[in-house]
Amino acid sequence: MTPEEIRKRLVALQEDDLPVHGGRTLAYVYDAGLAEVDALAREAVAAFAGSNGLDPTAFPSLLAMENDLVAFARDLVEGPASMVGTLTSGGTESCLLAVLGARDAHPEIASPSIVVPDTVHAAFHKAGHYFGLRVVVVPTGPDHRADAAAMAAALDDTTVLVVASAPSYADGVVDPVPQIAAAAAARGVRCHVDACIGGWVLPYAARLGRPVTPWTFAVEGVTSISTDLHKYAYAPKGASLLLHRTPALRRPQYFAHAGWPGYTMLNATLQSTRSGGPTAGAWATVQAIGDAGYLRLAEQALAATDTIAAGISTLGGLALVAAPESTLVAAVADGPLDVFTVCDEMAVRGWFVQPQLSYRDRPPSLHVAISAATEPAAFLAALEESVAAALGAGPVPVDPGVAELLRALDPVTLGDAELDLLLAAGGLAGDGGEIGLPERMASVNALLDVAPPALREAVLVAFLDRLARPVAAGT
Ligand SMILES: Cc1ncc(COP(=O)(O)O)c(C=O)c1O
Repeated sequence: MTPEEIRKRLVALQEDDLPVHGGRTLAYVYDAGLAEVDALAREAVAAFAGSNGLDPTAFPSLLAMENDLVAFARDLVEGPASMVGTLTSGGTESCLLAVLGARDAHPEIASPSIVVPDTVHAAFHKAGHYFGLRVVVVPTGPDHRADAAAMAAALDDTTVLVVASAPSYADGVVDPVPQIAAAAAARGVRCHVDACIGGWVLPYAARLGRPVTPWTFAVEGVTSISTDLHKYAYAPKGASLLLHRTPALRRPQYFAHAGWPGYTMLNATLQSTRSGGPTAGAWATVQAIGDAGYLRLAEQALAATDTIAAGISTLGGLALVAAPESTLVAAVADGPLDVFTVCDEMAVRGWFVQPQLSYRDRPPSLHVAISAATEPAAFLAALEESVAAALGAGPVPVDPGVAELLRALDPVTLGDAELDLLLAAGGLAGDGGEIGLPERMASVNALLDVAPPALREAVLVAFLDRLARPVAAGT
């Protein structure tokens, strides 16, 4: 392809993507609404895209930028002088490394475990799965915050890490970090605060005089914190920080291997070769916005959140899951309203609102992560119309026989043929077996919602597996 053809094709490919600007995509992306900063960050990504963070002596620029980012974050998380950090590719990698480091700090524990609230991000379940740790899940209380006493009671001799969220992704509330960290410290167990989504907002919320549950290194017993640059630091994708109270706490996270004929591999993260692009993009963004800029952006996003939360409460049809403590809002139906249809209707109006499936005794909800660029009045106008449309459309029926079948199916026993049938029945495959998402997702979500989590996982893995196939040659 010629450069011109490639450019045209890239633009055409991107047409089907959610917009990353405009403040209307309320999950996955975060928009400061600062076009100049964005342009500068993209320049920085491009300039360093080929640099390799594998060897900081070969690319000292990347090390310098990483150290600058950690220094900036230290003020936000009230880090002591001893605090150190590592730049990772994202929130999940920061969480994975926090768990890996905690496990490897205790080689004497044969069957290590972590203790988490049930609202903890799925990244910690992924860590348990990848690294062979048991994940002890403690139910949250009626306020959707971790139950500190129950978590303390769940600690035992196998516990290597306790996790709290600031805030939790699904509900947007901060766990009682002081109590959880104190219980962990009393047993000599590490305590990680997952502030991937709140780490660049809560410090400014506190400075703006809003009540914020203590969650930083100022809380005794907190040993590590994850905070994402590619969320509310508004950096391009691929950047998060894992911060440790001391270098000794970070040390087990490192991997070195000299026992082969090649270079001594020396890594602080799961990646070895890593692009300098995200490092430079995050550095440029943080320098351009700066502390005063982040204060303004947090004020904007928090004010928009207040307006949206108040609007949802008075709109009718929806109820807040909890009063938001940062910039996340979750709402459930307050009566006979299908929240999945509301999401579809919002999409028709140009807004991406994330559906969250039911969990244990919790009904399904809709979820928004509000950016500085989000216009609350426009959002609420679209939501009011969407709720009215969803009420008009009525419930999305799921055949009781199908629901019973889904509840009874054991996903472990399902082969490819059965999964293909389920994908077709769920509307995720066309008549010819072609895989894709329908225009409207409410009926798919309604079916997934009645399925137990293990079946949802099996069906969605099968879906992704079939999506991720190269187009056959000649077509
Ligand atoms: C609290 C929390 N932890 C971890 C993650 C995972 O981050 P990422 O998607 O960057 O891997 C998220 C993402 O939303 C999050 O909100």
